[in-house]
Amino acid sequence: MNLILLGAPGAGKGTLASYLIEKMGVPSISTGNILREAIKNDTPLGRQAKDFMDAGQLVPDKLVIDLLEERIAKRDCKSGFILDGFPRTIPQAEALDKIANIDCALSLDVPYEVIEKRMTGRRVCLRCGATYHVVANPPRVEGICDICGDKLIIRSDDQPDVVRRRQETYHEQTEPLIDYYTAQGKLKTIDGTQGIRETEKLAVQALGL
Ligand code: AP5
Repeated sequence: MNLILLGAPGAGKGTLASYLIEKMGVPSISTGNILREAIKNDTPLGRQAKDFMDAGQLVPDKLVIDLLEERIAKRDCKSGFILDGFPRTIPQAEALDKIANIDCALSLDVPYEVIEKRMTGRRVCLRCGATYHVVANPPRVEGICDICGDKLIIRSDDQPDVVRRRQETYHEQTEPLIDYYTAQGKLKTIDGTQGIRETEKLAVQALGL
């Protein structure tokens, strides 16, 4: 299955993706993680993306479409993939339709009040991309990634003013994708306000896994 996870910043897409990787046996591709890795390694892509990300804006379509196209051409995507954070604009969705057959867009419905609490407690691992929450999903050892042992950090775009700007960007540029995939008969929506395990169950039911 080729699956898209839709939802506002902080809705829980990355957290659900890490569960679905095991359940579906396919890789998850997070454009946000690929861009953060590029910034960390100070590559040309990272240098072009950094200012947009720090301002809570989207990186230009051309850059992310090219990186996504390259990524899904890899062998591990042949039997399916999960997209976490792509597409985010109508032009990105149209470009994706030209290179892959999407089976389902699963939207996590979470209001801003819930998202705000989640973002303030989020901690991430820049080395392996794992995401934690100080209350809802803490690591076994405070401040250390369970998976790779690297130090956990607060993302630079998780400052409250940038979080608000990212939500606005989502409403303006990404929410129209709900209508786009509804028109294609591919949209499924689940309540994303429940706990992590409950959300996983709702996703499994919705996807018929
Ligand atoms: P990206 O990294 O994709 O960020 P995002 O979409 O803003 O989403 P987040 O990673 O913030 O949240 P999430 O929904 O994955 O939630 P999470 O699982 O972490 O993008 C960052 C930036 O890169 C963008 O702003 C843009 O500049 C650029 N970019 C990326 N893709 C792009 C594209 N296609 N086009 C252009 N620009 C692009 O969960 C959040 C917190 O809540 C965590 O602490 C988690 O532990 C906790 N949590 C999760 N689920 C639950 C639950 N059910 N109950 C309780 N807590 C929960």
